Order: sequence, then structure tokens, then C-alpha cells
Amino acid sequence: MKKILVIHGPNLDLLGKREPEVYGKTTLAQINKELKSIAGKSKVTLKIMQSNHEGEIVDAIGKARKKIDGILINPAAYTHTSVAIRDAISACGIPTVEVHLSNIYSREEFRRHSLISPVSKGQVCGFGVKSYIFGLQACIDLIKK
Ligand code: DQA
Repeated sequence: MKKILVIHGPNLDLLGKREPEVYGKTTLAQINKELKSIAGKSKVTLKIMQSNHEGEIVDAIGKARKKIDGILINPAAYTHTSVAIRDAISACGIPTVEVHLSNIYSREEFRRHSLISPVSKGQVCGFGVKSYIFGLQACIDLIKK
């Protein structure tokens, strides 16, 4: 069975309570439940993690080498700052899909640049929870090729 590592970055544990006008009212647990149900129908296993710590995310990507077939990541604020996460994705060589709930290009200037996009297969942003769903679908297609 193919495996996808789902990584939720900093502050995404607060979804539902955190700026619902920007990020919606759906909680992380609800998103994960939906992702698991989609993955189950496609006969793909998900390993899901959330971390507020850059090093933990880097470690998880490093350990994924040879064990994981695809990565679905919302790097959250690290999207805009983390050379370390970018390098980890590049080093592991695992096809990666970047997702964001909000449209990062229509927000503050500092959010309009992603360090992760150049090492990702593609990015989905601006569709709320659907960004994750479209992103997972894209990731499943990539690994089933
Ligand atoms: C986010 C967008 C980032 O700019 C922000 O720091 C987040 C969430 C999103 O999903 O829209 O924490 O990645």
C-alpha cells in the first residue's frame, strides 16, 4: 500500500478557533478525518503529523526517505521563512504537494513568496479545506503513476 505523509505546520492545531474569517471553522481533526476517508477509498495510507517546530518537521521529512511515497504539506508560516524545510524536501526526493487554506497571493506582501513551491510538484491555495482535498487528490495521482 502506498503511503503519504501529511504535515501540518505551526498553529494549524488551532484551526477552527484561529482567525475563522481567514482559515474557516473546520478543525484540524475534521480535516484529518476527511483526508483519511479519501485516502481509504484510494487504498492509500496516511501518516499525519502537526508540529509547531521547524526541526521536528525537518526530521520527519528526513525519516520519510524510502518509507513514504508522497508528501502533502501545509508548511504554514514556515512557507515564507524555512530554507531548512525546503532543503529537506529537496534532499528526500519524495514528490511533494504544497497546500494552503488561504490564497497567500492575495494577502500581506510577506506571505506572497513561498520557499517551498520551487521544490514541490505543485501548490493548491485559496480553497479552504478543499485545498487539502485537491492537494491530496493530486498527491495520490502522482504516486499512482
Ligand atoms: C497558511 C498561510 C500562511 O501564510 C500562514 O502563516 C498559515 C496558514 C494557510 O494555510 O493559508 O499559518 O499556510
